[in-house]
Amino acid sequence: MRTDTPQTIYRKDYTPPSYLVDTVELGFDLDPARTIVANRLTMRRNPASAQREIELYGEELELVALRLNGKTLGKRDYRIEGNLLRIAHAPEEVTLEIETLCAPEKNTALSGLYVSNGNFITQCEAEGFRRITYFPDRPDVMARYTVMLRADKERFPVLLSNGNLVEEGELGDGRHYAKWEDPFPKPSYLFALVAAKLVCQEEKFQLADGREALLQVWVEEGNLDKTDHAMQSLKRSIRWDEERYGLELDLDRFMIVATGDFNMGAMENKGLNIFNTKYVLANPRVATDVDFQGIEAVVGHEYFHNWTGNRVTCRDWFQLSLKEGLTVFRDQEFSGDMIGTSSGRAVNRIDQVRTLRQVQFPEDAGPMAHPVRPDSFVEINNFYTVTVYEKGAEVVRMYQTLLGREGFRKGMDLYFERHDGQAVECDDFRSAMADANGRNLDQFERWYSQSGTPVVQAEGRYDESARTYTLKLSQSCPPTPGQPDKLPFHIPVAVGLLGASGRDLPLTIDGKELGTTAVLELTESEQNFVFSGVAESPTPSLLRDFSAPVVLKYGYSDAELLHLFSHDSDPVNRWEAGQRLSMERLLKLTEVAAAGGELSLDDTFVEAMRKILTDDTLDPAFREQALLLPSESMIADQMDVVQPLPIHTARQFMRAEIGARLHNELLATYRSQQTPGEYSADAESIGRRALKNLALAYLGATPAEQALALAQEQFSNATNMTDRVAALGALIHANAPAAPDALNRFYDEFEDEALVIDKWFAMQATAATTDVAKVRKLMKHPAFNMRNPNRVRSLISSFCAANPVQFHAADGSGYAFWAEQVIALDALNPQIASRLSRAMDRWRRYTPELQAYMKQALEKVAGQTKLSNDVREVVSKALS
Ligand code: ARG
Ligand code: ZN
Repeated sequence: MRTDTPQTIYRKDYTPPSYLVDTVELGFDLDPARTIVANRLTMRRNPASAQREIELYGEELELVALRLNGKTLGKRDYRIEGNLLRIAHAPEEVTLEIETLCAPEKNTALSGLYVSNGNFITQCEAEGFRRITYFPDRPDVMARYTVMLRADKERFPVLLSNGNLVEEGELGDGRHYAKWEDPFPKPSYLFALVAAKLVCQEEKFQLADGREALLQVWVEEGNLDKTDHAMQSLKRSIRWDEERYGLELDLDRFMIVATGDFNMGAMENKGLNIFNTKYVLANPRVATDVDFQGIEAVVGHEYFHNWTGNRVTCRDWFQLSLKEGLTVFRDQEFSGDMIGTSSGRAVNRIDQVRTLRQVQFPEDAGPMAHPVRPDSFVEINNFYTVTVYEKGAEVVRMYQTLLGREGFRKGMDLYFERHDGQAVECDDFRSAMADANGRNLDQFERWYSQSGTPVVQAEGRYDESARTYTLKLSQSCPPTPGQPDKLPFHIPVAVGLLGASGRDLPLTIDGKELGTTAVLELTESEQNFVFSGVAESPTPSLLRDFSAPVVLKYGYSDAELLHLFSHDSDPVNRWEAGQRLSMERLLKLTEVAAAGGELSLDDTFVEAMRKILTDDTLDPAFREQALLLPSESMIADQMDVVQPLPIHTARQFMRAEIGARLHNELLATYRSQQTPGEYSADAESIGRRALKNLALAYLGATPAEQALALAQEQFSNATNMTDRVAALGALIHANAPAAPDALNRFYDEFEDEALVIDKWFAMQATAATTDVAKVRKLMKHPAFNMRNPNRVRSLISSFCAANPVQFHAADGSGYAFWAEQVIALDALNPQIASRLSRAMDRWRRYTPELQAYMKQALEKVAGQTKLSNDVREVVSKALS
């Protein structure tokens, strides 16, 4: 915790490390109250650096001893300023021995070495290693690690670290030890250790080159019945990376450890991935379909990091998207390939588009907007964002769209050929893509350097006599903090043209036949693309498969959108047409609701929904996506002045209308999409459950008694968590008389399942009937724990981020609550506090009355004298 003005760090100020580290030997005497860390490192001066002092970072450490080449250093031989320890006049080659103390059980920030439910866990990315020992804790310093762990055998029977186990044994006095060696040089952020009482599911797995690897999933006793899906996902990930990218597991052993106290999703430490339990534990009784899918994606993500992140890592933290954007892209492709069918892939893609619009576009339009490769930061932990991750993945996807799958693979191969074992920059990835394909991708660099969501405006003109269709595309990008003016991006716009029959017309430009989807490259502020031989006036299908992370504007008529909604061969754009139809209406309804007028919904729209709902040729999963309305925050994003209550009223009205006017069809769908028999998490069953439960939700949005009876019946008879929470959700959101009792029953049955109790809190936190007073009451529940990130997210963050009506209550009570919780959390865990502080990002877009309250709350937080850099950065950017 610092009270001085936080320092901004700039990308342009990068300098190479003064010393390089060859080997690190770490000895741990693990004790929750007082852990001794002995660190012996061999270093040598870096010829590429002008700087001659040794620079080591340390935080919350007690320095016990420091020796250089065998000689103890006294107070005059080094300087400590803040987190930096400097040694001047050191020789070329150095052996440093450093002994420090830390207190893992007092570490509530969950960064560095901490205790979770009695177990030792580490989290070192981004800068947690410096909370374990003094070290040149920066990703471009890569070294070989040997780790000796010593701990009480009874309390910590399992001792794990990176790489291979080379020795273990007894120490007498009830303690034991284990020695681990990691053959691969790695940056300190990939270091990990676990000392714990755990059990594992393990398996030998044959790799493509014939080697066998030992795979383990470590969990607390009692959770062994929930490890199977993670293990299956791990095996599928290994296979997929071999097949799609020719990348093999480079270790004999690969471990996953689950912990209930974790700041994020998971961490790719070399050979020893550490996961939030949320992304490991699953069986049908406790986990939903979405949980199953999340586990597959995150297990894949962390595994894929072994090449994109670990073998090739980042030069500095500004390059974070080099590994994160690329690895998210890889996990997205993996998930798509696991579903296999083209419509399944589209549903997967639609989910990605929704996340972008729901979270990333707002970030890009708010006070924390930053380029995919930021130019500056105060606290790097604040930049593990949807922009770096998800927009970063879109940027990687655009290479594939521009170069084709094969071209992209060539680029990947060249990237590894050039950079295996190195710490590099985003530009190096771009060069590999360009060079492997003989393409100039200079302009593409702007996707890394310019923030904000580009807007692409399209206009079409059909010339009947010339049989040409001219598509005029223009682009612009709104100003963002520090970037008032933007240069044109290199944007791939995938386009199709639909004839009156709904079929794709063949596309020809400049005599070149382009099939039925053409990838147009928009590189200037304005360009015309002329399609020839166009037999009829077409309806354009623009930005197919969401080929670029942009806002696409085109003056579609209702008739055109209905045509696309019924016929577009590109499922993502088919869905998109439906979203446009709904959004237009939702915005109008919101206006009417704000003015206190009478709400109504046109037949045309209801009929279009009916058609999709009852079209059995369409996958249930796709139908569910197409029938799902844009969320309240997506609607808010389209408004100049946001009024949360009218938005809610409008959307609820629309849901109730659909529920009532399609009552029979929804009921029939509900009945026909049952998945009897044993639970299976395959895409087909997941789709059926999703559609069935959406039907239930729509039925539940009407006052009809029948729907509530169905929900109650489903709640009682459910054989899996997906159906159970869907039914409970329907009861809660309808404010049904049966809801309180169902909530109690749910709690009693799953009291011992922490992840299910998280759902119990989250469902209540997001109910429109839950006000601040209710949240405060829930915080007093014995199961609530301010120190557990999952619990905080499920109650406090869910309320602030996903209960807009109550969070934005007219009396400002939601904001006052927010300020209070941010301050309280900041004293425990700055990363979690900082995430929560982002709930106020868009405060300038609300009505003046709400704005005044929001400003007051922000100022209250900013006015705290003791505030972490994390929260300080977010609130000061919000207020500036
Ligand atoms: N590298 C991890 C992942 O994406 C996330 C680490 C997040 N660290 C943080 N300080 N927020 O898999
Ligand atoms: Zn990652």
